[in-house]
Amino acid sequence: MKKLRVAELFAGVGGFRLGLENTNNNLFEITWANQWEPSTKAQHAFECYTHHFKTGIHSNEDIAEVTDEEMASTSADIVVGGFPCQDYSVARSLNGELGISGKKGVLFWEIARFIQNTYPKYLILENVDRLLKSPSKQRGRDFGVMLSTLNELGYDVEWRVINAAEYGNAQRRRRVFIFGYRRNMSYAESLTSFSDDDIIFKEGLYAKQFPVESKPNKNRINKTELSHDIVNVSDTFQFQFWNSGIMRDGQITTIDTTPIKETPVTLGEILEENYDKKYVITGDKLEKFKYLRGSKKIERVTPTGHKYYYTEGGMSETDALDLPGRTMLTSEGSVNRSTHIVKTNNEIRQLTPVEAERLNGFPDNWTDMLPERRRFFMMGNALVIPIITRIGNRIEEIEQEFEEDETQLELF
Ligand SMILES: C[S@@+](CC[C@H](N)C(=O)[O-])C[C@H]1O[C@@H](n2cnc3c(N)ncnc32)[C@H](O)[C@@H]1O
Repeated sequence: MKKLRVAELFAGVGGFRLGLENTNNNLFEITWANQWEPSTKAQHAFECYTHHFKTGIHSNEDIAEVTDEEMASTSADIVVGGFPCQDYSVARSLNGELGISGKKGVLFWEIARFIQNTYPKYLILENVDRLLKSPSKQRGRDFGVMLSTLNELGYDVEWRVINAAEYGNAQRRRRVFIFGYRRNMSYAESLTSFSDDDIIFKEGLYAKQFPVESKPNKNRINKTELSHDIVNVSDTFQFQFWNSGIMRDGQITTIDTTPIKETPVTLGEILEENYDKKYVITGDKLEKFKYLRGSKKIERVTPTGHKYYYTEGGMSETDALDLPGRTMLTSEGSVNRSTHIVKTNNEIRQLTPVEAERLNGFPDNWTDMLPERRRFFMMGNALVIPIITRIGNRIEEIEQEFEEDETQLELF
């Protein structure tokens, strides 16, 4: 079968690529990857990426500087990327195919531009689950703007919030995964005989790869229709998105689904037996961790002089070894409340960089050419690789079941 040409945006240290190169049928070929870190001169993620991957074009440029021509030259069949949750509001403009202008520096608009330049068959995007609720003053607007943009570009979209630990992984990392497919493909056509509810519970990509109970949680189902005017969506759209949903031709159905949980890997299972003693925490540092993880009630004063109490609940002194790890942040490894600390061999210690890699399902020592602090940072930014492999496996099946005819046509 013909390979699917993948463009990997915001590539980081290559989580999407590793996930897609691990699928059953080896259909994905990453032919173009872009990674540029705006906040540092050193380009550590790019360095790690190019160290491991030797094929395809690797671009180390601000995505906003990549020209339309270069994007078009990738001829991508699939565009993938994890990108930040930002302000997606738009204003009317006379420029651009969509006739809108978003805020400068908002990376979703670069993804939209990439799609306009390549018209790929599939999209896989990843974001924090907060995206579904943002901004707090107009809940759901940002995701509404995103869906409506993809709708206007000719895509149907399925999404699901997935907690990696609930599907057999070692980290409780909750992210929204967005799967888009071109509306004019046989696959989209094949789904027309199913209702939105059928797709969410049984027939869609997520239902097949990440099974859920067949009834909504607490009867939570919402439906709405998107306006074709994105500026209108940006100004007025407000909606409660649940953890699962589909948008077809502007019609949205969202349902609160309950995962059929698989046995996770525990934090204890991914720990290294031998570790450097420099990771052991004692003395003042240990006291600091105890304080940070303890419960507190601190009096604070607002700039206008109003007194209030900042409170924080207590955490266990060290992380439970019989549960999957908590979400890893980019601050992992620093003296911080969210840093994992574990008790092994009667010692309290932080995680090693290899253990941080294992929490995401990366190969051991994937980032070992980088300074240690950056290794933790990279893992805090990355994703849980087996989730992408599962998504990729279904896309391969879709290609084989539905799109083969189109490929045949292209061949003759
Ligand atoms: C959430 S991380 C993605 C991590 C990746 N999925 C992985 O597995 O490592 C987002 C990435 O986008 C990069 N980035 C941020 N702004 C960018 C820009 N303007 N152009 C290109 N890349 C950018 C960051 O450096 C970061 O590596």
